[in-house]
Amino acid sequence: MISIKNLLNSHDLTKKDLLEIIELGNAIYKSPADFSHSADGKLLGTLFFEPSTRTRLSFESAMLRLGGSVVGFSDASVSSAKKGESLQDTVKTVSQYADIIAMRHPQEGAAYLASLAADCPIINAGDGGHQHPTQTLTDMLTISNYKESFENHVIGICGDLKYGRTVHSLIKILNLFEGNKYILISPEELKLPQYVKEEVFDENSQYEEVRSLDEVIDKIDILYMTRIQRERFYSDAQYTRLKDSYLLDKEKMERARKDMIVLHPLPRVNEIAKEVDDDPRAVYFKQAKFGMYVRMALIIKLLEANND
Ligand code: CP
Repeated sequence: MISIKNLLNSHDLTKKDLLEIIELGNAIYKSPADFSHSADGKLLGTLFFEPSTRTRLSFESAMLRLGGSVVGFSDASVSSAKKGESLQDTVKTVSQYADIIAMRHPQEGAAYLASLAADCPIINAGDGGHQHPTQTLTDMLTISNYKESFENHVIGICGDLKYGRTVHSLIKILNLFEGNKYILISPEELKLPQYVKEEVFDENSQYEEVRSLDEVIDKIDILYMTRIQRERFYSDAQYTRLKDSYLLDKEKMERARKDMIVLHPLPRVNEIAKEVDDDPRAVYFKQAKFGMYVRMALIIKLLEANND
């Protein structure tokens, strides 16, 4: 049984929780039919106040594949939020119908507020530039299928490390494991914020910050590419100046390790050339599939933890 009742922040997960969810995610991946009635009669609410393809549809697919059902909205303008209803009232109401809620919201901390109002478990499906813990579970299930362990890797994290909530969630979890070294690759303006460094690193953490992907590509075991997060910029001019900071292409892949893997939470904009997609080391579309299996595992584990 996992120790949490909601999943709001990757920091809430213990190593034991994480490994339990990953183990179940892998069991579901290997034999999904064995779990096709695990959530019979249960209802997932999906409250998406921000756009999504993968997170919402993988959550919905996950619940349907577990035998449950789904209600929700993918556009807040068709909900009563449009009439001025507060987030807390919306969540409190939906929690009268649903057994578990996955919510995405543009405000940092919104998932925490929702958890205070709800009468059912809340899963943070992304809150502003803060956290995206189920993407981290997706990333970890993917890594578990391509690497023998979560330890002793050189992990290159490239792109928008300031606003990239997937990065903030992922480093915290990877740092539960021994011997990982981080190469943080970003423009100066999009460096990992100091407050995130203080949250995710400790005195034993090994990391360096560089500007150029080119210079470090041959040192990396796991490369985590991210897009520049246009929707979080206050100035279009700054976005335009930074949007093409990185391009992973065939030429760079030729200089990368033969056993490097490339992850990307997606959506991609233009930071990975399409020519890379056929490289067996490019696992980002498989990663999207792992996202569904790990969300199946998370739903099972949270329903169980709230049923004791
Ligand atoms: N990775 C991810 O969160 O994708 P979506 O925005 O499409 O859900």
